[in-house]
Amino acid sequence: MSKAIMIVDDEQMITSTLAALIKMFLKRQVMTFNDPEEALKSEWFINNDVDLIISDFLMPGMNGIEFLKSVREKNPDAVTILLTGYADKENAIKSINEVGVYYYLEKPWDNTNLIKIIQNGLEKKELSDELKVKYFELKESNLEVERLYNLLKNDYQKEVENVKNLVVSLANVIEAKDKYTDGHTRRVGLISGLIGQKLHMSREQIHNLEIAGIIHDIGKVGVPEGILNKPGKLTDEEFEIMKRHSVIGENICKPLSCLQKCLDPVRHHHEKLNGSGYPDGLQGSEISLEARILAVVDIFDALYSKRPYRDKLPMDKVKAIIKEERDRGALDERVVDVLFELIDTESLNDIIENG
Ligand SMILES: [Fe+2]
Repeated sequence: MSKAIMIVDDEQMITSTLAALIKMFLKRQVMTFNDPEEALKSEWFINNDVDLIISDFLMPGMNGIEFLKSVREKNPDAVTILLTGYADKENAIKSINEVGVYYYLEKPWDNTNLIKIIQNGLEKKELSDELKVKYFELKESNLEVERLYNLLKNDYQKEVENVKNLVVSLANVIEAKDKYTDGHTRRVGLISGLIGQKLHMSREQIHNLEIAGIIHDIGKVGVPEGILNKPGKLTDEEFEIMKRHSVIGENICKPLSCLQKCLDPVRHHHEKLNGSGYPDGLQGSEISLEARILAVVDIFDALYSKRPYRDKLPMDKVKAIIKEERDRGALDERVVDVLFELIDTESLNDIIENG
């Protein structure tokens, strides 16, 4: 909406002439003042209802620069034009930078030129007003985006926390049933995550791999305790029942959307590269990297911890068995190399010692 144009000059002749000129050519509302103090006290000025101010330089009491300084403080968006007589031109120019005058004009002015300058000043004001509105709109939408982002972030963090708790609960179910797997699932999750890092997997892949490690044996809840905790070697028939745990585990996790990325490694953590594993007898590239990592870590931790039928094996013996499995084409060579590197650099000590 257009606001008024204010003219301030101690000579009434000048204010009247300018006002008539502007009304005639620009059809804008004009307020005239012969005393700058009065202009500053006017309702128009106080209510910021002024688009453009034309001020004389030499005026009694308060000169044009002092007046425009006050304008800038209270009404910084108004476009200002300074009128100077030829004699005081130099002084006026010196002070112009202090108050950010849009244009200065010498008296006597050329009417066409003056109208053109005022028109340009009003266009500049209009543009800066529009920009200001756009800026506030943008700021508002940014705030809204930020608010929504924070809401989503909070929801996501809660969701991640829920998944973690759910996974730990699921792991507790199997640890409560199978007393010899105490800490096994937690260690498999952590060690698999470390191997994933060394193999430059993405953060999301590592996260899912750690979860899969924790729940990989959840299907053992479907295996009778007599078989699970048998203090001796399993018969062929018992082993067949035990083998079902990977498919049972997959079925337990299937309904949970947060565990969809873990289904494959849970089902296939007993597959062997040479096709001798179960449940599907997959070979080579048919087995995902996640399942290959779990296979290696599962065997490592099983050998390096106490079992129903034997004590924990010494590390040399554990490494020798894993090497043998690797050499006969059952385990992934790269994964075994990374595991041995972690063992040799003692990077697994904390995980192994804390159970
Ligand atoms: Fe298993």
